[in-house]
Amino acid sequence: MKAKHLIDLGNLTTDELMEIISLANEIMKAPEKYSEACRGKILATLFYEPSTRTQMSFKTAMLRLGGSIIGFDNPQNSSVSKGESLKDTITVVGGYADIIAIRHQLEGTARAASLYSAAPVINAGDGGHLHPTQTLTDVVTLYNEKGTLDNMCIGLCGDLKNGRTVHSLIKTMSHFKANSFVLISTPELTVPQYIKDLMNVSGCRYTEVSSLAEAIPMLDVLYMTRIQRERFRSMEEYEKQKGVFVLDREKLTLAKRDMKILHPLPRVDEIAEDVDYDDRAKYFHQTVCGMYARMALIMKMLEKPDRTPMARKYDTHNVKCSNPNCITSTEHYLPKLFKPLGGDMLLCKYCEGRTLI
Ligand code: CP
Repeated sequence: MKAKHLIDLGNLTTDELMEIISLANEIMKAPEKYSEACRGKILATLFYEPSTRTQMSFKTAMLRLGGSIIGFDNPQNSSVSKGESLKDTITVVGGYADIIAIRHQLEGTARAASLYSAAPVINAGDGGHLHPTQTLTDVVTLYNEKGTLDNMCIGLCGDLKNGRTVHSLIKTMSHFKANSFVLISTPELTVPQYIKDLMNVSGCRYTEVSSLAEAIPMLDVLYMTRIQRERFRSMEEYEKQKGVFVLDREKLTLAKRDMKILHPLPRVDEIAEDVDYDDRAKYFHQTVCGMYARMALIMKMLEKPDRTPMARKYDTHNVKCSNPNCITSTEHYLPKLFKPLGGDMLLCKYCEGRTLI
């Protein structure tokens, strides 16, 4: 793997992504062959935000590779509770561990961490922005189910605004041939503009609809997501969105016989329990694929360890990112990094939010 860090799956070439999928499948077939692959290596999991699957599958992945784990799953039990900055925490942990997986409630945190870490950093979810290792999980599952990552009509349903798994999946699947997207949400929870821009640039067809029942007959894949309560400003706003889209057995009668149902989990109420027994439901199998995907990723990232010190000079702007959920809103020492979009518009390199000069 050429890139040192995995902040976005765009850090990988398509060939590198396919190599990870292939290695995940090899490990799945004969896990015992890989039980010493990371002996002597240490993974740090820094989870500033709750997690079941991502955290546990990362830890299990490293343990199954013969490595060891350190970290925290509650920042209140670390010196973060005493006011330690992200920069200082990462500088220290980067000196202890060989590789770091970080999850944080603010967008762009993994990228910010990568500026200060001697060890490779993996984005394990940054606020409502991206979740690349969930997408690795999704593509391993899809590849195994469909035998290809091309030519699919993919429906994404639920909280498309705040659903980081949705953003990462669209980004990745838009690099494969002839995929199209059906975006099923309320008008308040549509995908962010940078995701629409990306689909337009890649030439992927997409439609935005508000009825799951109308969309379901055309889909090869249905990616259900929960409404992300923790990202709403008020409970009142959340209550308006909750329960709008529910996949149940009745709606499934409208779907193709070979449609695959994926969900990053956790589920709240958007998939009825009895759908679990339909052979199109792949979301629990997906969680197992996630562990093998993370084993493959860790192995690839540790193949040629790169502990070069971070760059210290950046072309910083005087402009402040306008996204209140961007990591730069709390970690004020971070260099202000933007990509010009033309005119007066800048794209924040941490959170991909747009800001006017
Ligand atoms: N899919 C996922 O990220 O689940 P967790 O929040 O439980 O890690």
